[in-house]
Amino acid sequence: MKAIGLTRYLPINDPLSLVDVEIAQPVATGRDLLVKVEAIAVNPVDTKVRAPKEKVEDAPRVLGWDAAGTVVAVGPDVTLFKVGDPVFYAGSITRPGTNSEFHLVDERIVGHKPASLDFSQAAALPLTAITAWEALFDRLGVSPKGEDAGRSVLIIGGAGGVGSIGIQLAKVLAGLTVIATASRPESEAWCRRLGADHTIDHRGDIPAQLRALGFENVDYILCFNDTDRHFNAMADAIAPQGKICSIVENARELPVGLLKSKSATFVWEFMFTRAMFGTPDMIAQHRLLNEVARLIDAGRVQTTVGENLGTINAANLRRAHALLEGGQTIGKLVLSGF
Ligand SMILES: NC(=O)c1ccc[n+]([C@@H]2O[C@H](COP(=O)([O-])OP(=O)(O)OC[C@H]3O[C@@H](n4cnc5c(N)ncnc54)[C@H](OP(=O)(O)O)[C@@H]3O)[C@@H](O)[C@H]2O)c1
Repeated sequence: MKAIGLTRYLPINDPLSLVDVEIAQPVATGRDLLVKVEAIAVNPVDTKVRAPKEKVEDAPRVLGWDAAGTVVAVGPDVTLFKVGDPVFYAGSITRPGTNSEFHLVDERIVGHKPASLDFSQAAALPLTAITAWEALFDRLGVSPKGEDAGRSVLIIGGAGGVGSIGIQLAKVLAGLTVIATASRPESEAWCRRLGADHTIDHRGDIPAQLRALGFENVDYILCFNDTDRHFNAMADAIAPQGKICSIVENARELPVGLLKSKSATFVWEFMFTRAMFGTPDMIAQHRLLNEVARLIDAGRVQTTVGENLGTINAANLRRAHALLEGGQTIGKLVLSGF
């Protein structure tokens, strides 16, 4: 089968950083689905895993953690899906990625594809929707039933892939007042279109901009970009007993002591945790993806595609990685068809 892989970890302007390869088609066992991949999305995790280093792989390593496609075979223990089902999912960081014609994934982290979306529109969603959902509802403990409606959330990095779905879940399911950050007119307009009540600039003084809008502090903060840069501002802006969730690894030590006097919570979200450790509640991702599909089909949430870069091949994927590394993409980049 066709796949895009790497054996060396090179800068993205090197044509060998991602190459077209032929590899053997895998076979479904246990609770795995074999999926014919119709569309994929790219995420910053792809570029982080691909980042230049000395290591050399013996066999091509396939990246990519977002796909939409059709189930073509099932392992003997599969109970949630059957051959022919259209699906969307992110997969596991500990297994080969989705940048191949056929792909194996555990059924417990797969959702039924929204019927109202085509494959490329659906592929935009899984990784970011799982992240935003878990951050908001599992880590911050916000009620998805609207019991916290009217409370405030600051979403740092509003126009990115995670922010684009995070804004919608915070508005539509939780009923929160959403302040999203965006630094350019086009990313600001995108955040407002997805439902943000206010926008402020993450390149400026965040607490001062919040105060200017009338928010002395905010009840929740979702940090979807540059935890190192924004930590002190978050400690300043969070309400007493408020909660902060970050999804972005820190490079420096974080001054968590700043949160002590406010009894504020800081919590991490990593959307691969459940699959990586095979947690007993791993099936929660199957359920939440189905719920996202239901919200999409009901017209309450929209896909977050920013741009379709065309056929799934090495040249187009290199272009996608280069754009992501630029840090200014709006919504999701998707590719479709091999
Ligand atoms: N822990 C997890 O499970 C998990 C899951 C998904 C993603 N992540 C991580 O979360 C981060 C965001 O992912 P993503 O897919 O949303 O990224 P993305 O789509 O590449 O984000 C692009 C957006 O980032 C904004 N941005 C750039 N610099 C910023 C800054 N200093 N502060 C705030 N926003 C900034 C830009 O907005 P403007 O153009 O308006 O500046 C742009 O719209 C990445 O580091 C990714 O690896 C973690």
